[in-house]
Amino acid sequence: MGSLLLVLSYVSLHLFLLLLTHFTSNTFSLCNPHETSALIEFKNSFFVNTSSKPEDTWLLKCFSFSFELESWTNNKDCCEWDGVTCDNVSDYVIGLDLSCNNLKGKLHPNSTIFQLRHLQQLNLAFNDFSMSSLHVGVSDLVNLMYLNLSHCNLRGNIPSTISHLSKLVSLDLSYSFLKLNPFTWKKLIHNATNLKQLYLDSVDMSSIRERENSLSVLKNVSSSLISLILRDTGLRGYLSSHILSLPNLQKLDLSGNQYLSGQLPKSNWSTPLRYLILYNTSFFGEIPYSIGQLKSLTLLDLSRSIFNGTVPPSLWNLTQLTLLDLSYNNLEGEIPDVFERLIKLEYLYLSNNSLVGQVPLSLFHLPRLYFLTLSSNKFVGPIPIEITKHSKLKYVDLSENMLNGTIPRWCYYLPFLIELNLKDNHLTGFIDDFSTYSLRYLFLSNNNFHGHFPNSIFELSLTYLDLSSTNLSGVVHFHQFSTFKNLILLDLSHNSALSINIDGKAQTISPNLKYLFLSSTNINNFPKFLPPLPNLKILDLSNNNIHGKIPKWFRKHLLNSWKNIILIDLSFNKLQGDLPIPPYGILFFLLSNNNFTGDIALSLCNASSLKVLNLARNNLTGTIPQCIGTFPSLFVLDMQKNNLYGSIPTNFSKINQFETIKLNDNQLDGHLPRSLAHCTKLKILDLGNNNIDDTFPMLLETLSELQVLSLRSNKFHGTITYTNIKHSFPKLRIFDISDNYFSGPLPISLLKNFQGMMNVSYNKIGLQYMGNSDYYNDSVVVIVKGFSMELTRILTTFTTIDLSNNMFEGEIPHVIGELVSLKGLNLSNNEITGNIPRSLSNLRNLEWLDLSRNQLRGEIPIALTNLNFLSFLNLSQNHLEGMVPKGKQFDTFENSSYDGNAMLCGFPLSKSCKNDEDQPPHSTSEDEQESGFGWKSVVTGYACGLLSGLLFGYNVFFIGKPVRLVRFFEHMFNVRLKRTHNRMN
Ligand SMILES: *[C@@H]1O[C@H](CO)[C@@H](O)[C@H](O)[C@H]1NC(C)=O
Ligand SMILES: *[C@@H]1O[C@H](CO)[C@@H](O)[C@H](O)[C@H]1NC(C)=O
Repeated sequence: MGSLLLVLSYVSLHLFLLLLTHFTSNTFSLCNPHETSALIEFKNSFFVNTSSKPEDTWLLKCFSFSFELESWTNNKDCCEWDGVTCDNVSDYVIGLDLSCNNLKGKLHPNSTIFQLRHLQQLNLAFNDFSMSSLHVGVSDLVNLMYLNLSHCNLRGNIPSTISHLSKLVSLDLSYSFLKLNPFTWKKLIHNATNLKQLYLDSVDMSSIRERENSLSVLKNVSSSLISLILRDTGLRGYLSSHILSLPNLQKLDLSGNQYLSGQLPKSNWSTPLRYLILYNTSFFGEIPYSIGQLKSLTLLDLSRSIFNGTVPPSLWNLTQLTLLDLSYNNLEGEIPDVFERLIKLEYLYLSNNSLVGQVPLSLFHLPRLYFLTLSSNKFVGPIPIEITKHSKLKYVDLSENMLNGTIPRWCYYLPFLIELNLKDNHLTGFIDDFSTYSLRYLFLSNNNFHGHFPNSIFELSLTYLDLSSTNLSGVVHFHQFSTFKNLILLDLSHNSALSINIDGKAQTISPNLKYLFLSSTNINNFPKFLPPLPNLKILDLSNNNIHGKIPKWFRKHLLNSWKNIILIDLSFNKLQGDLPIPPYGILFFLLSNNNFTGDIALSLCNASSLKVLNLARNNLTGTIPQCIGTFPSLFVLDMQKNNLYGSIPTNFSKINQFETIKLNDNQLDGHLPRSLAHCTKLKILDLGNNNIDDTFPMLLETLSELQVLSLRSNKFHGTITYTNIKHSFPKLRIFDISDNYFSGPLPISLLKNFQGMMNVSYNKIGLQYMGNSDYYNDSVVVIVKGFSMELTRILTTFTTIDLSNNMFEGEIPHVIGELVSLKGLNLSNNEITGNIPRSLSNLRNLEWLDLSRNQLRGEIPIALTNLNFLSFLNLSQNHLEGMVPKGKQFDTFENSSYDGNAMLCGFPLSKSCKNDEDQPPHSTSEDEQESGFGWKSVVTGYACGLLSGLLFGYNVFFIGKPVRLVRFFEHMFNVRLKRTHNRMN
């Protein structure tokens, strides 16, 4: 939009100068010889690059791209040269317009242009001054009223003497990479009191701050100001709304100044305003009702800022609007159905807000509307079925709302429609036959359609087709997609009722294909692509029944043809044989859950660009290539559940990105590499079920991000020594070293340091899982309530300690009561002695507790009945005595919780206590009255606690993962699409 603006303003100035030239050159005049030679010399200091084609953008912005300099010859009056204007009385050169002449060369400090003292207009825009600085000489031209040095490839500071140009009416220094410091800025604004147009786009003004009052200088800006265009200047601070009250202001564009804030005025608007553009700023607050006073407004772009409140119905008054962009703000409430008078509206963007209610009907009666974007809001109800006969709609994006009903008829026949995006809604019904032959982008994913695949789409010329998760059925022959000659994206994923017929034969498909998603589509074969697909970026064939070996052509394409590939997902198939070799450049290589066999070839080392490598759950053998520890970007390495042997790579680089390393369930042996300590971003380290033979890796204690550490079922041994570090393992939440040969006292000094188990916040809205990547979910196996269980997604509130099946001895330390966030504690099958410490009752979040098979003595502390969430208790096989506590959760445990403690008595054991009656009656503790917990609420509390959280995690994994993956990449496309749209504006 800004570029449009720029063009317009540029064009008007240019026209003005052209007219000026026209009138003056008709009068007879003789050019001053000194000025003639100054001009000639100036011209000669550049070369005109006639051969090089001007860049597209220049062509667009340069109104006439002509080589005016050809008329510059000595034997002609210089006043008649193209681009030169003379005063018709004095014959002095007063105007020079050499814009868009492709001049190339340095603008010298002593350039003769600065000798043309009578110049009133100077326009050198769109030339290439090869990074010269703007010399102080420019301030000698004190008569200048118009100065345009935009797009000139200049560098450095704007000289402070520019403020001498006190007659300036129009100053354009935009896109020349210059810097403006606060001092110069203040002087300029103070002296140039006639300024009407100030264009400083992309001039670096970041040193101008509120602090030095240099921002508020704008208060003193000339009240004759008409245009103030300061895009992308780095201005920051709070800008007084005074600027929007200037009596003559017509254009204000402050967009792209992310740290510039301000508010819209409630009254005293600059009523002549035509363009108000605050895109990507920190302007905030409500859009006042009074904005309706701006009756001349044609462009209103407040997008990507911090506006809140509702959309004022006074928009009704803005009958001149052609563009209204309020997207990416915090607007809420219903949008008023007041658009019928905005008959000039062409672009309407309201996406990414929290707007509710129905989609206004009046939008569909706008005769000039091209772009309609309401995506990512909370709109409900059906899409309006009525539309004006004259609709010019080209782009319709209603995605990511809660719209229901069927696709309205007009979507199928609008003559100019290019994009239809209805994905992520609750639409139902059939997808009907399309006759919108202009359609290129069709997104209908994530709806609840039914019926057959819409074969009529094959008569269109689609480039993007997304029908994933649409519930469609029927058979589709893959070769049909070859009718889309320019297909770039095809997503048919997650249509389990759809059968995609891929015969073994080679398939022709658009050579431009970039994205192919066929996850969960019941395919049995690799689609064999005939063209080399040099642009292919993403290939997702996951969750199918593809079996057999990877075909040779696939390996060849992967290594030689797909030069742009970034993601291959073949996971959850039945593939066999050797792994394919990933090429350099690839980022995601996902082959888990197949039957791949053989060694991991060393040629994998070429793919050092990898970010995620998932080879989990195959039958791979051999060793892990050493090079993997040196991959600079790899953050997920998952090779769990294979038959890998040998040692863990020993050479993790000093600087690496590893967040997840899962090598569990293999046959790895040897020591833990010391270089693991370099993995400072590591969050999950799972080495369980291997044969690693080492002492406890204290070297990991400084890893400040580590949250999950599982060393279960290895040959770790020795005592766990005391730590010297104050906060070792500061974020650890899942600590599992069970089933090893650790001995000595319980690692008290470690346990009491586990900050991550003391202060988990439960107050966050909703449940949160570890990791936020769309292509990989962190998982871990833990023993929960006696059962081994895989957490396919890990709740950030999930905290457990498992030290079971070792040879720990000594007493349970009291400090364990400080780990108040703990949900599970398993110390079973050790040599632990002493009493059960009363402090365990402080673990108010504890859901399971296993102290079985130890040498514990004494009574079970009655205080343990305070553990309101406890649903699993195992104290069996100890030497506990006395009465089993009664009340609350303890009334739900069975015999098995206490087996093998001959001296225990009372319910639920059959052995009754002799002095049963002497025991204090249960549940008279103050706790109960204080907290209002009764037995029932305890049980409910539990049911809503962990279990539902775990189940939720499961669902998110199975349903959520692929959807999120798709969304992730679609997001990329949308960004791209929006950019293309903007360019078309
Ligand atoms: C300007 O100065 C440079 C070096 O300082 C010199 O080479 C050049 O000829 C001078 N140009 C003019 C127009 O005087
Ligand atoms: C303001 O402009 C006048 C006239 O050109 C000039 O003499 C004076 O030095 C300028 N003041 C500043 C602060 O630049």
